[in-house]
Amino acid sequence: MKVFHKANDIHAWLQSEHHTRSIGFVPTMGALHAGHLSLIDRSKAEKDLTVCSIFVNPTQFNDPNDLAKYPRTLADDTDKLLQHGCDVLFLPTEEEIYPDPSVKDRSYDLAGLDKRWEGANRPGHFQGVCMVVHRLLEIIPTDSLYLGQKDFQQFLILRHMVREILQWSVQVVPCPIVREDDGLAMSSRNVRLSEQERLDSLVLHRALQYIQQHAGQQPLHKLLQAAKSIITTAGSVQKLDYLAIVNAADLSPVEAYKDAPTLLAIVAAHFPSARLIDNQVIKGQLAEW
Ligand code: PAJ
Repeated sequence: MKVFHKANDIHAWLQSEHHTRSIGFVPTMGALHAGHLSLIDRSKAEKDLTVCSIFVNPTQFNDPNDLAKYPRTLADDTDKLLQHGCDVLFLPTEEEIYPDPSVKDRSYDLAGLDKRWEGANRPGHFQGVCMVVHRLLEIIPTDSLYLGQKDFQQFLILRHMVREILQWSVQVVPCPIVREDDGLAMSSRNVRLSEQERLDSLVLHRALQYIQQHAGQQPLHKLLQAAKSIITTAGSVQKLDYLAIVNAADLSPVEAYKDAPTLLAIVAAHFPSARLIDNQVIKGQLAEW
């Protein structure tokens, strides 16, 4: 695996390879788990060269405490990437990503996609995500950008940025959520959970499954009420930021099952040691996106 630290070096090397080889790109913030590695595997299966970046991006953290506590496990990450046959690893410093203030001055009109849910709960978060991925895509010539559906709103927003704002021909590929055996969606923040929180965290997936299993049979507001009570019975849930059923095309809330061809149930909740998010398709398919 080739490792680069400098934007100019990786750019020049990949540009020359790109004449003859297709390139898949997997941006991450490290603390890699099977969810991240599924994106590497997908890119490996579809592209000649797979590039992974690890950069804990300060501009997308609205909570300085969350940034300070973000796990950093570079040696482990490198081993995992080697095992999965990743070809190129980019490990930039902050200076390489944000060489001059103009990069941090960029702002993106996200057509309201950043106003709801994660956007409403984490001010500035998606502007920071767009800033860093835009910059990474300038550095790394890419045919396909591989993203996890775990962060579904991030996927929709980055697809909007690439297609509508930048109008680049990069394909933005959504990849299924990878879960622990008991259903918890894998996340770099899961390691922070205490034993009790880890047990209680299962209510998120359980509530989403309840909605999926009963969707189409009961009015959506009833489903949401029942699913909410599944979550709030868990002692360590401090605050439910949202639990909603939305149109997967634009994340607008729907009132009835028939209101959109693809529906998603989405959830975010605070536990004492971490804030967790999850989602599940409850009608239609994302596969054709
Ligand atoms: P990070 O949280 O490290 O996630 C990197 C990628 O892995 C994202 O596309 C995310 O959706 C995906 N991912 C995380 N957990 C997953 C799971 N359980 N199953 C499938 N995919 C999963 O998301 C970010 O970093 C950053 O915002 C980034 C895009 C790198 C910009 O800084």
